[in-house]
Amino acid sequence: MPSLSPELLKQILEEARFAPSGDNIQPWLFKMYPDHSLVLHRNEPENLLASDYFLNASFVALGCILENVAIASEHYGFSSTVVIHEDCVSDETPQATIHFIPTTLSAEQQESNERLFQVMCKRHTDRRPYKKQPLDDTTKRLFEKTALEGGGKLHLIEGEEMLDAFGKTLGSHDTYLWNDATLRDNLIRFIHFSQSNHSATSGMPLDTLGLGTLSIFFKTAILLAYRIPLLWKVICFASRFGTQKTLSASSALVFLTLPKQKIQTSPLSDTPTKDLVRGGRIAERLWLLAETLGLSLQPQYAFVAMAHNAGNEKLGQSFLSANKKIIAFLRSHCPWFEKESLVFAYRIGFVVSKKRASTTERKSVEEILWHT
Ligand SMILES: Cc1cc2nc3c(=O)[nH]c(=O)nc-3n(C[C@H](O)[C@H](O)[C@H](O)COP(=O)(O)O)c2cc1C
Repeated sequence: MPSLSPELLKQILEEARFAPSGDNIQPWLFKMYPDHSLVLHRNEPENLLASDYFLNASFVALGCILENVAIASEHYGFSSTVVIHEDCVSDETPQATIHFIPTTLSAEQQESNERLFQVMCKRHTDRRPYKKQPLDDTTKRLFEKTALEGGGKLHLIEGEEMLDAFGKTLGSHDTYLWNDATLRDNLIRFIHFSQSNHSATSGMPLDTLGLGTLSIFFKTAILLAYRIPLLWKVICFASRFGTQKTLSASSALVFLTLPKQKIQTSPLSDTPTKDLVRGGRIAERLWLLAETLGLSLQPQYAFVAMAHNAGNEKLGQSFLSANKKIIAFLRSHCPWFEKESLVFAYRIGFVVSKKRASTTERKSVEEILWHT
């Protein structure tokens, strides 16, 4: 049996750290304890997500890295027990505790874990070109099974007509989204922050136009555009068609939902943070699975954030009315929507090129370890 040394724990983090996070902010910090457990904290000072002043995305990202820790530890012969803490809104409190015990997996479990482990450090999201092609039944079943095993549910919006209609609704929402003053300020704050850090932002107006994860060049362009109101309006207007186009060009839009656990909600939305972390674990599994199947999953995260905040009075009127249109669409097509926590929405398509849209760096293990 291997022993769980601090070196092995660091090795596990070495692989897990490639987890995705909104705008690549990597909002995680780990404490290592003498009993070889790991405690996960949210890294508040760096929690500067441009499009996420609802904080949902950070919790989902914590789930993603937790899942990677679990997969990597199984690769090294340890199963993990992950406890997601309920009071996890404050950053002082731990978000999750992970204990490890030596394990022997069945050949089948080992094989499926290994498949995911092998793509963990290679998986990437950023705007790879993909082609629209209907998902076959085997693929759909695999996705559904993965979601179910994690306690979630998968819902697909498919077919040209539906995707076009939804793309239109979502596109008009984006115009409001990027004109929302708070989001704009967040974006600027984030761009300043990201110029000196690892962050690779995406999901921004230029990005929805298909320009890929933003390089420093594009970030600077956005900053400039922000200072010239007319240019900003043009970008926001154009992004509406970008969203429409990317959705229509997808094989499907995939929703990941969980039955609502009314425990603790994130400060601005009514989604329990625990659901977001649990859902993040499943989301990451689906992401890895997609990678093994030659599929590209592109997050439609801004959509999730605003769907959760449909009735948030703190948001502007134009934002709220745009939200209402999306909620109305969801109600008419997905009756399940209101009873569940919507954790993630992805556009999905078949990868046409293995080339990355850009390099997205990750913090080193030393940087994500909490040194007291
Ligand atoms: C919770 C969450 C939300 C995300 N939201 C978006 C998004 O709205 N648009 C987008 O293009 N990418 C989004 N991403 C993907 C990240 O931008 C991406 O994971 C990060 O930049 C690292 O790039 P990589 O995954 O390709 O290595 C999201 C990822 C997570 C985990």
